[in-house]
Amino acid sequence: MFRRHKITVIGSGATGATTAHLLALKELGDVVLIDIQEGIPQGRALDMWESGPIEDFSMKVVGTNDYELTRGSDIVVVTAGMPRKEGMSRNDLLKVNAQVVREVVEKASQVSPDAVLVVLTNPADVMAYVAQKASGFAHHRVIGQAGVLDSARFRTFLAEALNVSPRDISAFVMGGHGDDMVPLVRYSYAGGIPIEKLLPQETIDKIVQRTRTGGGEVISLMKSSAYYAPASSLAAMVKAVLWDERRILPVISYLDGEYGERDIYVGVPAIVGGRGIEKVLEVDFTDDERAQFKRSVASVRDPLSMLALT
Ligand code: LAC
Repeated sequence: MFRRHKITVIGSGATGATTAHLLALKELGDVVLIDIQEGIPQGRALDMWESGPIEDFSMKVVGTNDYELTRGSDIVVVTAGMPRKEGMSRNDLLKVNAQVVREVVEKASQVSPDAVLVVLTNPADVMAYVAQKASGFAHHRVIGQAGVLDSARFRTFLAEALNVSPRDISAFVMGGHGDDMVPLVRYSYAGGIPIEKLLPQETIDKIVQRTRTGGGEVISLMKSSAYYAPASSLAAMVKAVLWDERRILPVISYLDGEYGERDIYVGVPAIVGGRGIEKVLEVDFTDDERAQFKRSVASVRDPLSMLALT
């Protein structure tokens, strides 16, 4: 018999709440929105549940401060923590968010020991590592979100430059979720045609730079962190897992020798399905791409060692 999936979203801020609503709209499962703030998750969840009769979804959305209500979740999405403000790097959030992520993941994983964890809290690569340690889950069941968002920005800008639908752009970004992330131009296509054949190098260079600072661009406009595209990214990852889609997505994955790296979570293309990360895909690099990737990995190792985790 079909059983509805149960999804927990930790953190009822802009990203968590938007994600919860998208999950209900897409009918991916019943949603529990949890936060330490009293009233906010309850109010937001009630408000979105009440959109059900209009939006035509049957899923239930509840808000709570009590982890008991999250028991038996199939998937747990972690958005809790401080968002980035203007002038801050994602690493400025390191210590405070590591503490938050450790606490919420310990509580959530105890009552949902078979769940897949999807972590968005920044700095996302480091927080995925923290979440895996706090849960004790197998590495493949802990996935970080960054590449789906960064690649969506890359695809949006490429589509704009080409004046074509973003649906037809296939492109991905690797490395850490920081300003030295690595948008892979050589592996970017519009309708199957390499973008290097369609756009001048100068335009591509500008797009690569805009992608790297895409999160900061939103912050400088509205003085707070992005949440619509981040929430859409989380919803796509949740769907890939719950529907066992085996999608190829750029995600923050544990590396155990892939790309010559060990004991780190960082952005790579991977097959995402019912078990979480089904397989990390290794692409060939040019010398320059390899150097960029190594630099980006180093910028994830630094904060990890500051937390004395490795
Ligand atoms: C961004 C934040 C979520 O890239 O890291 O917008």
